Amino acid sequence: MSIEIPEGLTELLQSFTVEVLRNQPRDLLEFALQYFTQLKDSETKEASFGNDQNSAPRPGKAVSFIDEAMQIDSENGEEDDDDEEFIAPVINRFIRRASVCAEAFNPDEDEEDKEPRVTHPKTDEQRQRLQESCRDILLFKNLDPEEMSQVLDAMFEKFCTEGEHIIDQDDDGDNFYVIESGTFNIFVKVDGTEKLVGCYDNRGSFGELALMYNTPRAATIIAISTGALWCLDRLTFRRIIVKNNAKKRKLYEAFIETLPLLTSLELSERMKVVDVLSTKVYNDSQQIIAQGDLADSFYIVESGQVRITMKRSRTKKDQEEEEVDITTCSRGQYFGELALVTNKPRAASAYAVGSVKCLVMDVKAFERLLGPCMDIMKRNIANYEEQLVTLFGSSPDIEQQSA
Ligand code: CMP
Ligand code: CMP
Repeated sequence: MSIEIPEGLTELLQSFTVEVLRNQPRDLLEFALQYFTQLKDSETKEASFGNDQNSAPRPGKAVSFIDEAMQIDSENGEEDDDDEEFIAPVINRFIRRASVCAEAFNPDEDEEDKEPRVTHPKTDEQRQRLQESCRDILLFKNLDPEEMSQVLDAMFEKFCTEGEHIIDQDDDGDNFYVIESGTFNIFVKVDGTEKLVGCYDNRGSFGELALMYNTPRAATIIAISTGALWCLDRLTFRRIIVKNNAKKRKLYEAFIETLPLLTSLELSERMKVVDVLSTKVYNDSQQIIAQGDLADSFYIVESGQVRITMKRSRTKKDQEEEEVDITTCSRGQYFGELALVTNKPRAASAYAVGSVKCLVMDVKAFERLLGPCMDIMKRNIANYEEQLVTLFGSSPDIEQQSA
């Protein structure tokens, strides 16, 4: 028999516990009596003030009590005073918003009900273009249809001119950007000098880091052609994408810890890897990678098996090619790194064997986050050659294979 925990109980007790810890009352029972009486009173008052959804205390809400309570106190110029009489702080906690710069990465904080939902009306044609631009954005891949629809509603169009700075390094983050068209250079300051580290070419997205981790912008992005961007405001991004990432962290934390490839990363770096991963499911025999294609993603097998094959002429003179199995990847193993490391087309093909679930990372995140894992990858790449010698009796150069 399972016992159902009433909605809001955890939050209610959490909130109460925080107040006990802050106030250290001598008479716990008396304190509890006061606390819950005032909570009830304030709820009744709120109800009679016209049911303002933004301010009514709702025990079902998940809120960062400690952080927010502290934030409010310091904003009000109040000092914690143990001898001070207890004044129910409950309502304040629900109506006040933490200032942007103090916003911690706290995905459990339910910002949803604090701010009205953002909607930018769009024509059918605009919505179609927007959907097309967002189709391959990995950060959106794990959203459910309702969340995705809210994201699309909130996005707005921005046209840019050649030379325009879309983002300046060290600024505060305002929007997340999805590219519809245009080319954009990425500059990062190294020892005070701006260094060109990459370019977006008519696809992709940027500007997620400052919004995810409440940090200053990590790079400068400059349009080098005219272009069109779709922008998602900070609040909607945090309300939907960051919250979704928190779920993902819970789901994949344990799995990520078991991956030998990521052992050179710090825990916080491994969590950043989880943040940028999306999941893709493939049916039996479905092609995941095609040999010779340009590469933009890296894959880790979460479940099922992936068959790696390579084309090869039947005889030396034969023009006809056959596809030969070279290896199989299973849970915890990765593939699709070679083309990203060598900057060449895919050296082999990959197919699902049965139903397969992969964690997928885009090339920009791969470059940004997996630098410390490069030694392990390179050692593995060296093994590919041996593998091919064993199979084909010759030592084909991996880079030539992929050319
Ligand atoms: P953000 O820090 O919000 O703003 C600048 C964006 O540039 C950043 O998010 C990333 O989306 C993007 N970017 C691309 N390449 C890099 C890089 N090498 N370092 C940091 N940011 C990068
Ligand atoms: P990539 O070339 O990006 O796409 C095909 C992938 O197959 C490749 O990266 C490797 O991850 C994987 N692979 C496994 N074994 C080999 C091999 N012997 N040669 C080349 N690629 C291999």
